[in-house]
Amino acid sequence: MRSTDIRSTFLDFFQKRDHRVVPSSPLIPSDPTLLLANAGMNQFKPYFLGETTPEHPRAVSVQKCARTSDIENVGRTTRHATFFEMLGNFSFGDYFKSEAISWAWELFTRHYNLDPERLWITVYLDDEEAVRLWQRVGVPPERIQRLGMEDNYWSMGIPGPCGPSSELHYDRGPSFGREGGPAVDGERYQELWNLVFMQNLRGEGSGKDGYPILGELPARNIDTGLGLDRLAAVLQDVDTVCETDLLAPTFRLVQEMAGREYPGRDGGDDSTSFRVVAEHSRSITFLIADGVMPARDGRGYVLRRLMRRAVRHARRLGIDDLALPALTSSVIGNLGGTWPELTRQSALIRQVVTAEEEGFERTLRQGSRLLESAIGRATATISGRTAFDLHDTYGFPIDLTVDAARSAGLTVDEDEFAALLEEQRHQAHRAGQGRKGDAVARQDAYRRITAEHGPTQFVGYASTSAETRVQALLGPHGTLHAAGEGDEVEVILTRSPFYAESGGQVGDTGTVRTSGATLRVLDTRPGLDDLHVHTVRILDGEVRPGDEAEAVADADRRAATARSHSATHVLHAMLRRLLGDHAAQRGSRVEPGRLRFDFAHFSPVDTRPVQTLVNDYLLDDPEVRVWETTRAEAEAAGAVALFGEKYGQDVRIVDIGDASRELCGGTHVGHGSQAGPVHIVGEASIGTGLRRIEALTGADALRHHDHQRDILTELAAMLNVRPDQAPDRLRQRLETLAETRRHLDTLRQAELDAQAERLASLAEPVPGGWLVAQRVPSTTGADLRTLTTKILTLRDGRGVVVLGTDTDGKAALVAAAGADTGIQARDLLTEAAREVGGGAGGKGPIANAGGRDPGNLPKAITTAARRARTLLTLD
Ligand code: ALA
Repeated sequence: MRSTDIRSTFLDFFQKRDHRVVPSSPLIPSDPTLLLANAGMNQFKPYFLGETTPEHPRAVSVQKCARTSDIENVGRTTRHATFFEMLGNFSFGDYFKSEAISWAWELFTRHYNLDPERLWITVYLDDEEAVRLWQRVGVPPERIQRLGMEDNYWSMGIPGPCGPSSELHYDRGPSFGREGGPAVDGERYQELWNLVFMQNLRGEGSGKDGYPILGELPARNIDTGLGLDRLAAVLQDVDTVCETDLLAPTFRLVQEMAGREYPGRDGGDDSTSFRVVAEHSRSITFLIADGVMPARDGRGYVLRRLMRRAVRHARRLGIDDLALPALTSSVIGNLGGTWPELTRQSALIRQVVTAEEEGFERTLRQGSRLLESAIGRATATISGRTAFDLHDTYGFPIDLTVDAARSAGLTVDEDEFAALLEEQRHQAHRAGQGRKGDAVARQDAYRRITAEHGPTQFVGYASTSAETRVQALLGPHGTLHAAGEGDEVEVILTRSPFYAESGGQVGDTGTVRTSGATLRVLDTRPGLDDLHVHTVRILDGEVRPGDEAEAVADADRRAATARSHSATHVLHAMLRRLLGDHAAQRGSRVEPGRLRFDFAHFSPVDTRPVQTLVNDYLLDDPEVRVWETTRAEAEAAGAVALFGEKYGQDVRIVDIGDASRELCGGTHVGHGSQAGPVHIVGEASIGTGLRRIEALTGADALRHHDHQRDILTELAAMLNVRPDQAPDRLRQRLETLAETRRHLDTLRQAELDAQAERLASLAEPVPGGWLVAQRVPSTTGADLRTLTTKILTLRDGRGVVVLGTDTDGKAALVAAAGADTGIQARDLLTEAAREVGGGAGGKGPIANAGGRDPGNLPKAITTAARRARTLLTLD
């Protein structure tokens, strides 16, 4: 069965059982606590938590997933992958265990026609109900095993929904491992499908200690995940995902490029390399298509690691040419039909992987040079610190360091390296823990408030003020009964005119007045969905929950922010018009009077035509139209959806004229011309394939313009010309200056030549050669060196020059020994340097010394001269 049929069989099966087909969410999740989408249920998390109600209680999806925590296992085993498609069916408080189990069995045995004799089941320890249900569909008790928390209890790995699970495994036969079921051998009895009975809420914690179960979810849910890779391998009767139709073309290409065949699953390191290169190529392609760009941290770092690992394994196989461009193209060719975003982003993908692979080559070369010098210095061992610096600063992999050291007969202190790595991880983890801890406590408080009172009613689209009531006050340790003058607390209001920061737009500021207090609103953020959290300082009086209040947002600031937001949409549309559809938004920051806009593009952008186009468009005064619709209709209407928009609910669309249509919850001007002038003040790269434009809008653009003009006026006044003549005049002045410098330089050289000749003529003959030892008038160290070498060239190689000078209260000495003397110049100055209170430095034929004691300079020169005479005579 081909993978396209496997997908459609799954979707059809559940669609017929009243499930709504939901598209995969992008790999960049909307959930800020999650790095990458790692399960089909991610996009439904608010439904499981009871924060939002779904439109329909049953869903089915094919979700793109990335899991990279056990990246070192990928390639080594036949079953791990960093990217995979997860087939899943979901119930949001609707059906539960009984249906989930009987449907899974029916689909497996009657539609995918898997041999029931080869299917094994695991359940969570005491889940008798699941055991009974499996027996009811016909699984014999000896093929049902009970496993603990680690295997049969599922969560996203972070606080959130969780529950006991039950898994379906397939026996791949004795050549894959030992007899005895999944409890004994996970390679042989391969997990295919995980049915999670999602019913609890987990807290913080991880690893051996497990995590606390905080309580029950509002309803009992079903969340399942069936790995398409694994099922395809079974149905197509191959060993690994690389040999299924999902990856086979890419896998063949790896073998062609390497000029040899995959040695089969037992070929040791070579087998691993073949699999890693093919498997990672697919992850890389999908990640970039969804907007991940290589970076030093976060998800960008995950991508970078995948690329580097793929390249290293490709080189290991003898693929010396650029590998990723061809490999990712083959992934696009094979999977672009099912996942059209791959085809749409193919140009970007090619550019990113080419730049990154070339960059990595440079890193490797640079690292190799550093490593060579470390090898040159080392006697027996390269320190763990050096290996760690190479790894941490240059991204130079430890195994390469170890290999290179080994070829030079050296070892690497790998224990020290491991300790440093561990220390770094530990620090990062601790930093993460602190932040997460606070965030979780706050989220809990918000959740309780929302459960009790419902969300904030936002009235700010229509007005900047509202009559309202204080619903809750929050301090750092939880809810408060009152807050007084000088306190800084969080306030929740029943209705709020304050926009809560989101979609890049900053939160509103303003004032809240109750009969007894005045509150300054410093910022507004979203707590949970639709809960507006106002950070306030109490200016005077005392405030309590329940107080009636009047809330007024700063209207000027809001208007200036609206200008920037509308300008951002138009900028986005005009960039795509000028550069192409790939120039899509990757992030933005919308502030009063200024904006920052990040987008995908590969080379510097000439901002003048962009600015002209944006201003022309706005000057045409296009109408800004805001409307609401369903997400599906919005997509059909061609609205630009940004990552992180939620599925299901009604969406808000903002049209500005004909060219700009975006899903957006922000506040905008009514007509384009109200955005005022837009002035682009910066354009720069912020990472591979990512650019950032910064611009000013409205009055701020005008102020900036005035400021620029003031600078020009001042420059023109200094140059004594009209502003429009300033550039020419300045150019002339700079040319004259350069010419004067050249002239001065020539004079200086002539002077040095004359001085050198005079000094050379003062040479005194010494047994074995000649000596010039002189004090020269105050000059620079560089001139002193020039003089020394000039004197040496004027005479023969059998002499010594010692020159000394004092400048700025310091003494400087330079000594040079002729080529035929065999003298180390530094020897000449060691003692003399002490006399002027300093030290001597320099290797080979020229040395210098400096000290803080210029009074002793004549004595030091005499000392150096004496030393020179001795050495010349000895020679
Ligand atoms: N969410 C469950 C998993 O990822 C089904 O295994």
